[in-house]
Amino acid sequence: MTLFTRLLKKTCMVTIETKHLDILSRRRLSVSQRDESVIKSILENTELTINHMTPEIKLHLITPRCPMWKSKGDNLPFSDPYWAFYWPGGQVLSRFILDNSELFVNRTVLDVGSGCGASAIACRLVGAKRVVANDTDPVALIAVGLNATRNKVALEMDNTNLIGELNPDWSTVLLGDMFYDENFATIFSKWLPLLVERFGTDIFIGDPGRYPLKNHPVQSYLVKQAEYELPLNTRVENNGMTHGFVWKYVIK
Ligand SMILES: C[S@@+](CC[C@H](N)C(=O)[O-])C[C@H]1O[C@@H](n2cnc3c(N)ncnc32)[C@H](O)[C@@H]1O
Repeated sequence: MTLFTRLLKKTCMVTIETKHLDILSRRRLSVSQRDESVIKSILENTELTINHMTPEIKLHLITPRCPMWKSKGDNLPFSDPYWAFYWPGGQVLSRFILDNSELFVNRTVLDVGSGCGASAIACRLVGAKRVVANDTDPVALIAVGLNATRNKVALEMDNTNLIGELNPDWSTVLLGDMFYDENFATIFSKWLPLLVERFGTDIFIGDPGRYPLKNHPVQSYLVKQAEYELPLNTRVENNGMTHGFVWKYVIK
């Protein structure tokens, strides 16, 4: 490591937009020159938008106005940029958080599969004490850092796989649109009861009725907290899905 990179890490001298530094410095990941080019690429290829269910939160997303929207995937500067879209499950979960602040105030929250970070940001906006944005895609966490800064909140970041970990510090765990995969549904069905039984963790799930959740035994442990109509653009982008649901995992 050169002196320059040491100084870069220490002072987080990211040259793209200096106002991002505060949040980036809180990341567990070190700030590297590669990060600088990723930040530049995110800023160049996304639009800062409030055209979604939580207009209180500004997000850098790939929208139909971005050239990359029509990309066939061969010329993407990012691989699988899940973080560049605000998934319907995440949108309804964040809406629920903003509308039910009393459930999140002073909590320590883990947002698993944070993506663009909206649900994590929503928690901080309503007064959560600590929020960990967790995503195994390191680019996602850089995008989360930018989005957190845009919304003037501080988040902690973790890019390790925390699914299955038993940590009593998390009083609330969020899963925004994470039931897109049957394997995940099965893994969550084993992990969530342990969190609830051992630590009394509150677990909230946002989902637009995806097949792996609807058809999994885990559904019998879910109690509906809210139901929202999805906005037109989200419906169009998500193959006509019309509604999103917020569930709480409850052991009866
Ligand atoms: C469908 S997106 C949902 C993003 C966000 N919660 C939302 O609703 O907009 C799923 C996200 O989970 C992340 N992910 C996949 N496997 C993961 C894991 N084992 N731990 C943490 N994040 C993971 C992906 O990188 C992606 O950002």
